[in-house]
Order: sequence, then C-alpha cells, then structure tokens
Amino acid sequence: MHIQQVDYDGLIPNNVGLNNDARVKRALEKWHPGYINWWQDMGPDGFQQSLVYLRTAVSVDPKGWAKFDYVRMPDYRWGILLAPQVEGRTVPFGSHKGAPAWQEVPGEYRAMLRRLIVIQGDTEPASVEQQRHLGKTAPSLYDMRNLFQVNVEEGRHLWAMVYLLHKYFGTEGRDEADALLERRSGDADTPRMLGAFNEKTPDWLSFFMFTYFTDRDGKMQLEAQAQSGFDPLSRTCRFMLTEEAHHMFVGETGVTRVIQRTCDAMKDAGIEDPNDIAAVRRLGVIDLPTIQKKLNLHCSLSLDLFGNEISTNAANSFHAGIKGRFREDRLKDDHQLESATYPVLRLKDGRFVTEDAPALSALNMRLRDDYLTDCGLGVGRWNKVIEASGIAFQMKLPHQAFHRQIGEFSSIHADPQGNVLSDDAWEKRKGEFLPSDGDKDFIEGLMQPEIRPGKFASWIAPPKVGIDNKPGDFEYVKLA
Ligand SMILES: [Fe+2]
Ligand SMILES: [Fe+2]
Repeated sequence: MHIQQVDYDGLIPNNVGLNNDARVKRALEKWHPGYINWWQDMGPDGFQQSLVYLRTAVSVDPKGWAKFDYVRMPDYRWGILLAPQVEGRTVPFGSHKGAPAWQEVPGEYRAMLRRLIVIQGDTEPASVEQQRHLGKTAPSLYDMRNLFQVNVEEGRHLWAMVYLLHKYFGTEGRDEADALLERRSGDADTPRMLGAFNEKTPDWLSFFMFTYFTDRDGKMQLEAQAQSGFDPLSRTCRFMLTEEAHHMFVGETGVTRVIQRTCDAMKDAGIEDPNDIAAVRRLGVIDLPTIQKKLNLHCSLSLDLFGNEISTNAANSFHAGIKGRFREDRLKDDHQLESATYPVLRLKDGRFVTEDAPALSALNMRLRDDYLTDCGLGVGRWNKVIEASGIAFQMKLPHQAFHRQIGEFSSIHADPQGNVLSDDAWEKRKGEFLPSDGDKDFIEGLMQPEIRPGKFASWIAPPKVGIDNKPGDFEYVKLA
C-alpha cells in the first residue's frame, strides 16, 4: 500500500498498516465503541441524524487529500493518518541533534512524551464538548456545516493521539486513552486538563474567537511537535496541521463577517460613532466595542495555554529533542541553544521590563511571541474591513499582562493597554474590558437559528465563496 493512500476497508481507516499490526488494531477496535458513545453523548446536540456536507481525508497527499460528501456525523470515517515518512530524517534540535529520528519511544523520555501526547489529546474532545450546543443557534447552514466539520476533525485529532498512546505506550497508553473519554469540559470533578478548554463557548461570536485564538494555540503546539525527534509524533502533527488550517479559516472569516455586517449596518443607518452602542445594537448587529471585549477574553485565555514564561519542562523537552520551536526547520541557529538568550517580558516592582533569559528556559515565551505575531495578522485584516467602511475604530490584541491566570502576570491586574490596576479598580472596570452580563444577554438574544439555505442571521454577512465552491443557496446540512 502506498503511504499516501488510505486503507478504508476496515473499521478504522488508516495509512499506518493497521492490518499488519494485530495488537494495536485490536486495542483500537476495543476503544472504538467508547468513542462512538462519547460522540453521541457529547458531540453536536440534536444533529446526529442530519446529513452534513463534510470533507473526509482520503489521502495525505497535500495536493488532494480530501473528498466532500453528505455524511451523518456518527458515520464519519475517523481515521489514523500520518504524513509520509521522510527518508533519513534526523532529530532536528536539542542534545541529540543529527542522530536518526526515533521510530520507537526513547526509554528515558517515555514519561515526557506520554504527557505531551495526553495533553494534546485532551484538548481535541474538549472543544467538541464546549461547542456541542451551538448547532441549535447556527446563523446559517453554511456556518452549521463549518462547525460540524471542525467538530469531526477534532474527533479525528483525538484518534491521532490515541493511536500513538496505544501503539507506543503499552498498558499506560491504554489507560490514558480511556481517560481521554472520561474527562469532561467544565466538569467540577473530572475537568479537561487546560483552563481554556473548561470555559463555555456560549455563542457564535465566542466560537469564531475560539477557533481564531484557541485553535491557533493548537496550531503553534502542533508546529512545535511536528519538529519532534520522535518521528511518529512529527508525522501525526504534520497531517493534523493541514486540517487545522480550516479551523482558523472558520475563525478568521467568521469574525470578519461579523465585523463586515456591523459596519454595513452602521453605514446604512448613518451611524458614525462606533461607541454609540445602543444605536448600533438596535440594528440587530454586534457593536465593535463588544467584539473587542470578546477578542480580549479569548486572546487572554489562549495566552495562558503557553504556560509559564520561564519553564524547566520546556527546556527539558527541547534539550531532549521532543518538542521544538515554531518552524524550527526554518530557523538559522545552532538548534541547541545551550548558551543563547531570549528576551522575556517580566514584572519587576510593578513595572514591565524586558530581561534576557536563557533561551532554553524561555521557549514557552518564544512560542507565545510567535503566536501573537500570527494573531496580529488576522487582526490587521479585520481592521482593513473597518477602515474601508470609514468607521473610526481599531481592533487590538490586549497586552500580555491582561486577564492572566498563569505565569508572570497572574498576580496582578492590568487593563488591555498594560496599565497595572489595583484590585478595586479592576473590579470596577473589568466590564469595560471583558463581556459583561449585559453584553452576554444581548449576544444571546441575537442567536436565533437561520436554517433556510442561502439565508444568514441579521448579525453576520454571507461568506465570499462557498465551501467546495458550492453556490450561495447550497444546502450544506440536510436536517433530519
Ligand atoms: Fe485539533
Ligand atoms: Fe482545531
């Protein structure tokens, strides 16, 4: 079998030769019913029998890897797909740099690798759980379809990590795979592992912000793991990144369309002041300052996912050759960083200062910086839309110290511009920076489903082009 072709004959589509690996095949087939139960319980609520126009990966050839068709979600072919093996690949960084990439888990790094895979795996089902109610308030069938596409692919990403656990980590791996189906986003007793994945995604603007900011954290983590000296992890992550691109497309274009609709409605009504919130809301669209508050919330929650600015864990996993930097292969340095430094934003006596830290310890900070650069690109495009409408308003990424629960800035309060605030001032003013109960109620009130093909809710503009080049009135979901 050619690696780029996927074997679709068995229960579990794959390009990893599962038919020749009886032990892993059996283990995964045993895990499968629990997964389907989880999907039925925690996947999209109310749409399991609907026919959804979904893409399914049929190959890992970047030139044509997916096919589109109507599928009932529980029948989606969740498969195990690894990017092709690169002949002669070596460990690209760290103390083993230049040694042949590992095809088996190096014993000394077993615990480190397992933890990395489990944390990545835990985020995948978590977002499906967070988003499970959104189908009922979809602003169009087009958006509903995109939501479900993201959901089934997050399910596939769970499969990707569960494969690694079963294949390479024995009984411990099996137990971890089972536990991935037991934790629940937001559950008081068995929550998901990371903070942002226990938050609610109550409305569609949150969903778009989540896919823009939080899926982008996923992209950064996958990029760093795609560099791994453990070759199966690298290959898994490389293929996941092709799917992940669509998730960020959904986020970026979703927010663009919300902003576009608001600007168009303001122009039509002759409203020039973006801060005249009551007047803008009367038009049935979301005012720009409230969109900014949502941005502040999701950006700050996602920054926490990068962990502490100074981290021994990050240093160890780089040193070990397990987790690299963002696009390590394009960086021009010694890829070992034993004596290099990196500038880190720190808090000293209540003021922000930039201090050089050992580059190995500062790897989380570096990945977060790369992330913010990436985040900024889409924000710039959002501002172009506002600018073209002649409205005097700019979206901005909040300061890194704003609304943080983890790391250097978790001990203080700061506004989105980075002014340090007293506890009192924060309590009084946080409603200016983050969605207030009133904002949430207003947005919730707008979330009325629109299920007529080609129609869109009042608060969002149609997309420029359809999925798979389908026409504007295409029936992306045939509701059951
Ligand atoms: Fe994912
Ligand atoms: Fe994603």
